[in-house]
Amino acid sequence: MQNRAQWQSRLGFVLAATGSAVGLGNIWKFPYITGMNGGGLFVLVYLFCIAGVGIPILAAEVLLGRATAQSPVGAFRSLSREGSPWVLVGGLGVLTAGTILSYYGVVAGWCLDYVLLSATGRLTATAPDDVPSLFGELYADPARNVVWLTVFTAATVWVILGGVRKGVERASLILMPLFFLTLVILVVHSGTLPGFGEALDFLFTPRPENLSPAGVLEALGHSFFSLSVAMGAMLTYGSYLSKKESIPVTTLTVGTLDTLVALVACLVLFPIIFTFGMEASAGPGLVFMSIPAALVQLPLGALWSILFFALLFLAAWTSAISLLEVLVAYGIDEWKLSRKVSTLLFGAIVYLFGIPSALSGGEGFFGKGLQEATGRNWFDWFDYVASNWFLPLGGLGISIFVAWKLEDGLRRAAFGEGTPEAWQARLYAGWLMLLRYLAPVAIVAIFLHVIGVI
Ligand code: TRP
Repeated sequence: MQNRAQWQSRLGFVLAATGSAVGLGNIWKFPYITGMNGGGLFVLVYLFCIAGVGIPILAAEVLLGRATAQSPVGAFRSLSREGSPWVLVGGLGVLTAGTILSYYGVVAGWCLDYVLLSATGRLTATAPDDVPSLFGELYADPARNVVWLTVFTAATVWVILGGVRKGVERASLILMPLFFLTLVILVVHSGTLPGFGEALDFLFTPRPENLSPAGVLEALGHSFFSLSVAMGAMLTYGSYLSKKESIPVTTLTVGTLDTLVALVACLVLFPIIFTFGMEASAGPGLVFMSIPAALVQLPLGALWSILFFALLFLAAWTSAISLLEVLVAYGIDEWKLSRKVSTLLFGAIVYLFGIPSALSGGEGFFGKGLQEATGRNWFDWFDYVASNWFLPLGGLGISIFVAWKLEDGLRRAAFGEGTPEAWQARLYAGWLMLLRYLAPVAIVAIFLHVIGVI
């Protein structure tokens, strides 16, 4: 355990963790659910969920990793009695990471396809009304999806093979600044569009009549997904964090950056949507259909769409890196594999499970077949089970374990290490309150909602 890798710098950890958190959830999902829930008030509720529940759980996860210097399964094992069922929470995290990663790569592949469509001029040569059908074509094309999934998996495996410092940390130090730069360019451009004022109003003027109770729970569920909590990814990254760093400071930074990116992504997208009088509530097709249909009508449209989809790709890539690292660290810690063997093994497994997802838009068994038999294709099933069941379960397990099972002295020390003494007591008390009471109640509410009780 002595020679477990550690991040070289605080910035390395913060950027890697932010890279994990900032993903398709921020740029694709957050804007479209904001659109569907009427903007303003939904955004405000989301901010409360992040601050009150998301960040406290994030801190709990990083704490578990750092205190044990283990990946999820080992972390729970070393903090509980022998044979204790808590280990299952760690195992669930590993399973969830694999489940999400398998279909995440398919969506990342779409981004690459769109970069190519834009760069070759095919996108701009398409009439705006026909742009949505470009997505339909891509979605239904098995070969194209499998090719992109292969490229994306290879890129992710390549980074993880390099290890914590030379792979993950180095990639984050390069990719995240590139990501922020691209985001800034895009938002400055959106700021010049006539729809910018309307977008500001939509996003920041609360209109209670547009938000339903279901929307509140959606905001809560999404705050988990967006921060990458409840599945061991942040735990694993935390296991490489030095005891000299402050958990409250770093996790607040990560949570704030993640939230800022989601808000700025809305400021990139909604001005474009409003400038062309399109529907803010278009749903999941917002990014892959409405946005390109608008972009092709702008001067330099090909450039903006290359930048936008490259941005989305970078976001997806750094998230996938952290997902694969959960599996690989598990293989190294628990099965005593070398990093190389573990990476190739888990890369291959996730790739195999990703293929049916890549075929899910097609006519075959994994697509239309399952869809007709069960109401969801393979991709939708994986997404549904992971987001609605595994994530809340994992979040509940982690928060209850840290808030109620861990011994107070150990927990207080593990939380405080690296934080200036003067702040420790108050931060600890506030964090523990949220984690003890608000987090479990909120998660149980998500469950009741998923089951259909509320
Ligand atoms: N946070 C990622 C996003 O916003 C998605 C995600 C959820 C994730 N859990 C994760 C990414 C764990 C990496 C690791 O898109």
